[in-house]
Amino acid sequence: NATPRDRLRIAIQKSGRLADPARALLASCGLSWRESRDRLFCYGETLPVDLLLVRDDDIPGLIADGVCDLGVVGRNVMTEQDGERRAAGKPTAYRELRALGFGDCRLALAVPEGWEWKSPRQLDGMRIATSYPALLSQWLADEGVSAEVVLLSGSVEIAPRLGQADAICDLVSSGATLAANQLKPVATLFESEAVLAGPVHEFDAARGELASMLLRRLDGALRIRH
Ligand code: PRP
Ligand code: ZN
Ligand code: MG
Repeated sequence: NATPRDRLRIAIQKSGRLADPARALLASCGLSWRESRDRLFCYGETLPVDLLLVRDDDIPGLIADGVCDLGVVGRNVMTEQDGERRAAGKPTAYRELRALGFGDCRLALAVPEGWEWKSPRQLDGMRIATSYPALLSQWLADEGVSAEVVLLSGSVEIAPRLGQADAICDLVSSGATLAANQLKPVATLFESEAVLAGPVHEFDAARGELASMLLRRLDGALRIRH
């Protein structure tokens, strides 16, 4: 286990929607860092709390493996990866500790603008491109729809135009990406925002105290914002 015993390590997104607000929120808890040259690791100065800057999709796995103690990540990513772990017979390894009130978005099913949308049953026999196979498959099962899930790790919105899929299931925030690709959202599968994630197990004494202090400060910072 590579985790240091006496310092807390928090994974946040290196770049993207959650990166700046995550850092700002942690800074408002009284944390400050000295950045490494490559900007992948920030060494905590005021407290022994370090940051690891990574791809958001890697954050749940880093917590599951004990490489990081906490992470700021979209609830969508956490829930999707938890579903994938379950499907693979692995136990739940992380949990949502706090909702953070930023990074709001939804996982939506979107179809070409020209479609007349009536019900999910229209998707029977169709191909749906997504980076969220677990959440999409669950929704399809709930709706009693039998469709093919086409797994893409990015640029999902272009799949219908390329003839790779008939519809897509992707995150929608402003809606600009869908509009730019002549797609329209027709169903919401999941509402998301940034959350603080941590392991299902308790921390050992030293890091447990640090984590509780951070959570107390975080609750104070969140109260002031709302
Ligand atoms: C999501 C999604 C769309 C975009 C939608 O990607 O995949 O590309 O945001 O946002 P909009 O409705 O405001 O246009 P995101 O950049 O969050 O992350 P990713 O790089 O992990 O796909
Ligand atoms: Zn991502
Ligand atoms: Mg994207």
